[in-house]
Amino acid sequence: MIIRRERPPDRPEILAVIEAAYPGAAEARLLRELFASREYLPELSILAESADGEILGHVISTRGWIDNVPALGLGPLGVLPARQNQGIGSALMHASIDAANELRETVIVLLGGTDYYPRFGFVPADSVGIASPDPSWGSHFMALPLTGFHAGIRGHFRYAEPFNGL
Ligand SMILES: CC(C)(COP(=O)(O)OP(=O)(O)OC[C@H]1O[C@@H](n2cnc3c(N)ncnc32)[C@H](O)[C@@H]1OP(=O)(O)O)[C@@H](O)C(=O)NCCC(=O)NCCS
Repeated sequence: MIIRRERPPDRPEILAVIEAAYPGAAEARLLRELFASREYLPELSILAESADGEILGHVISTRGWIDNVPALGLGPLGVLPARQNQGIGSALMHASIDAANELRETVIVLLGGTDYYPRFGFVPADSVGIASPDPSWGSHFMALPLTGFHAGIRGHFRYAEPFNGL
C-alpha cells in the first residue's frame, strides 16, 4: 500500500470511496465542496492506494480557525468497506499528523468517535481551551495539539466554509 497526496484526477475515485464509507450521508458532498474551497490545502488531502492502483481510503484536513488563529479541521476520513479494520485509517491519520507537523501547523481538530481518535493522541478539545462550533458535540469534538501548539491558542473553532452547509 502507498500513502500519497491526492491529485485532481484522483477525485472521482476518492469521492466514490467516501460515498461507499458513508452511504447516503453528507460526507461525499462535503468533500466535493472542500476540494473547491479556499480552505483546501493540497498537502493535507491524502490517500491510500493499493499496489495495483486502487484507492482504498482518503482523509482531508482543511483550513479552520480558533478565533483568528489558523488551525486545521480534519474530515471526512473514509476507508472502502471491504478494506476497513486493516490499518488503512490509522496509516492515513498518522500521515496527516506527520504532514501537519511538517507544515508547522499548531493543532488539528475533528468531530468523531471517542473510541477511535484518542489512539492518535486526540483529547477533548475543551481540555486544551478550544470550544466547539456546537456545544452538543461534547467530547466528540477533539483536538490534537501539534509541536507548535501553545497555551495562547484558545477560543472558538470555526471550520472551512463548506462545513456550514451540513
Ligand atoms: C472509521 C474508519 C475511517 C477507520 O478506518 P479503518 O481502516 O477501518 O481503521 P483501522 O484499521 O486503522 O483501525 C481499526 C480499529 O478502528 C476501530 N474502528 C473501525 N471503525 C470504527 C468506527 N466507525 N468507530 C470506532 N472505531 C472504529 C476498529 O474497531 C479497530 O479497533 P481496534 O484496533 O481496537 O481493534 C473506517 O472504518 C471507515 O471509513 N468507516 C466508515 C465510516 C465511519 O463509520 N466513520 C465513523 C468515524 S468515527
